[in-house]
Amino acid sequence: MNPDSGPESRQKRYFVRTYGCQMNEHDSERIAGLLEADGLGVTNDLAQADVVVLNTCCIRENADNKLYGHLGGLKTLKDSRPDLQIVVSGCLAQKDEALIQTRAPFVDVVVGTHNVGRTVELLHEAKVAGPVMEILTESEAFPSALPVRRDLGWSAWVTIQIGCDNNCAFCIVPSVRGREISRPFDDVVAGVEALAGAGVVEVTLLGQNVNSYGRDLSMARRAAGESVAARPLFAELLRAVGAVEGIRRVRYTSPHPKDFRPETIAAMAETPAVCDHLHLPLQSGSDRTLAAMHRGYTAQRYLDKLAAARRAIPDLAVTTDIIVGFPGETEDDFERTLEVVAAGEYDSAYTFIYSPRTGTEAAERSQDFVPAEVVSDRFERLRIVVERSALARHEARVGRVEEVLVEGPSKKDSGVLTGRTGQNKLVHFVSPDPLAVGSFAEVRVTRAAPHHLRGELLEVTARPRHRTRIPVASL
Ligand code: SAH
Ligand code: SF4
Ligand code: F3S
Repeated sequence: MNPDSGPESRQKRYFVRTYGCQMNEHDSERIAGLLEADGLGVTNDLAQADVVVLNTCCIRENADNKLYGHLGGLKTLKDSRPDLQIVVSGCLAQKDEALIQTRAPFVDVVVGTHNVGRTVELLHEAKVAGPVMEILTESEAFPSALPVRRDLGWSAWVTIQIGCDNNCAFCIVPSVRGREISRPFDDVVAGVEALAGAGVVEVTLLGQNVNSYGRDLSMARRAAGESVAARPLFAELLRAVGAVEGIRRVRYTSPHPKDFRPETIAAMAETPAVCDHLHLPLQSGSDRTLAAMHRGYTAQRYLDKLAAARRAIPDLAVTTDIIVGFPGETEDDFERTLEVVAAGEYDSAYTFIYSPRTGTEAAERSQDFVPAEVVSDRFERLRIVVERSALARHEARVGRVEEVLVEGPSKKDSGVLTGRTGQNKLVHFVSPDPLAVGSFAEVRVTRAAPHHLRGELLEVTARPRHRTRIPVASL
């Protein structure tokens, strides 16, 4: 018998489930990287896992409910396998701290958003001492490089900023992610260079309000007596990242409309690697609602910035976020939203039903909450307006040749490949030969639908350079 096949020598496995936004996806990559550095291997099968991580979100209420539902299921698993360790991390852990331990005392580690890097140490501590909870209120500085396990060899998230200094009345993010801290400029560029060296061709710069990137860095330098020019650092960063050899696509999310500046538009227009896609969250088209949300812009100001971006970048795709049913939203307010959405001619929009989050300003206005049936009617009317413009924008692409980055077989039909255009649109197409993920190909668009395009392959323009097995790297 092979001595290596005994139960003691079986490699331990971890399973990570991620909720929420790209920040959390990236934090999950870091947690996975730390666990791999500790000798564990990944599994997609919960039944095989020795460590289960739920990296949570609390942006809307159903996110909370989902977590508590999943925890119920895990309790049964843990009862049958007491060695199983369960970690709850992320924004809901930060928000609900002790509540998780009260409602789910079998959870081994509760870790917040400011100390993801401690996950493995806390797991070791919990093995010896029982359940641990470590929630810090702030990150002291931008978290230093942590090992990362990326799922995609050709594409990577790059966090340029953590936290948020705004106070949108509906939003829980500032209270769970802390104040805005920017990652030093040279550090970001060096990180992207390292990624490019590993064969990454696409990077997405992440922050809650990327346009204010660097404000804290400049303030700290001024406070230290240096004369620092008031320059828009995010625009410079876009240019610097776009100039890194091997990086063919630069994306970023999200810019805040109030801080979206002409310099950023110019950097997008003049840096070929920066994709022709802008995600500019509108939230509402009513000035009254925008003011109550503390968004810092009017509908007209927003549309003017959008028009400026479209003038500078003629082939720009634009997407947005909209909240329906913010407290006090009247039929008239909502009609303004429909008008601005129609004028915005979006390629797609993420539409959300307002969800009160305890501790936020808007959640206090319960007397102004919009009745559920009114909200769902508005939500449906908004969906129709968004789909109309999305379909029109997509139909306008039919007949055009687009460069796509191949992402793999389509989810619905494994005989069909899926790629993404610079505008961030999914294109499904058939290839006579298998095409490696991470390849670039030219595709002629043949059909349009509201959420994707169909096309035919013309030629493969570049093969991937990344390794298929992605090692854990400190980036
Ligand atoms: N920092 C980003 C937003 C991050 S949250 C920005 O300002 O653009 C992503 C989206 O979730 C928001 O744009 C908003 O549309 C939605 N959202 C946030 N809080 C919400 C709430 N309480 N109810 C409904 N939607 C919400
Ligand atoms: Fe939330 Fe507003 Fe900050 Fe975005 S900018 S994370 S919506 S507070
Ligand atoms: Fe993201 Fe959800 Fe937190 S949207 S920042 S994971 S609350």
